[in-house]
Amino acid sequence: MTISEEQTINGLPVGVFDSGVGGLTVAREIMRQIPNERIVYFGDTARVPYGSKSQETVTKYSRQILRFLQQQRVKAIVVACNTASAYALDQLEEETDIPIIGVVKPGAKTAVGVTRNKKIGVIATEGTISSEIYTRYIKKLDEKVEVLGKACPLFVPLVEEGLLEDPVTDEIAGRYLSSLKDSGIDTLILGCTHYPLIRGTLKRVMGEEVTLVNPAYETARELKELLEEKGLLNETHPPLGSNQYQFYVSDGADKFQHFANSIFKYGILAAKQINIEEYN
Ligand code: DGL
Repeated sequence: MTISEEQTINGLPVGVFDSGVGGLTVAREIMRQIPNERIVYFGDTARVPYGSKSQETVTKYSRQILRFLQQQRVKAIVVACNTASAYALDQLEEETDIPIIGVVKPGAKTAVGVTRNKKIGVIATEGTISSEIYTRYIKKLDEKVEVLGKACPLFVPLVEEGLLEDPVTDEIAGRYLSSLKDSGIDTLILGCTHYPLIRGTLKRVMGEEVTLVNPAYETARELKELLEEKGLLNETHPPLGSNQYQFYVSDGADKFQHFANSIFKYGILAAKQINIEEYN
């Protein structure tokens, strides 16, 4: 490979996808930790939520998104959705040569490193909890750790309604988390992309003694390591005005843009709507 070809590959974007807006918390962390990288983000806003759907359906959706990202010539993919990581990552890995990582393994690894009393709680969608994927990864790292899971399905719509600091969110968090609080866990994995956005509420409810783990941080770190290992890091910052970050959705581009602008420090220029069903 000539030097210029290599530079071209390094300058290709990283594909990041989620069932909707939640994966922006992962994209945000990638932007912070590896600021030279280009990103193509896809949010499946027409078909969200994934958390209550079957493995078969989530795998089918994830495969279509993989096809879309392949067409965008991404050099690596981050499955920034816990449910898709739980249900579809193994299958996607078999279907592509593009390096691909999910958010579950990095989250499990961080939590095992953090816990002192070996009692870890996981909050996530129904799909992620029932797959028991966090428990499996955690036990692989340390079989003595006890893992307690709790599905919190109402958190996703609360976040999407913008009720990040609100008495309703406090009330629901209090109910969902009371059994975990009583169980004596010292570490809680925020196993759903939306939950870091209500971190303040979760911290208040769980108390200072419980460490909250956001898998997004470790995922961005692992992506950096992966790109380094494969010689794929982009060494130079893309020029201003070169569309470093591109956002695609399957519905409601304006609403997505509004949400993105509420969580990013700077504005996103635009989100484009595409027909994801075409990618088979
Ligand atoms: N992105 C999903 C996850 O992290 C949450 C939203 C959904 O249910 O689709 O599991």
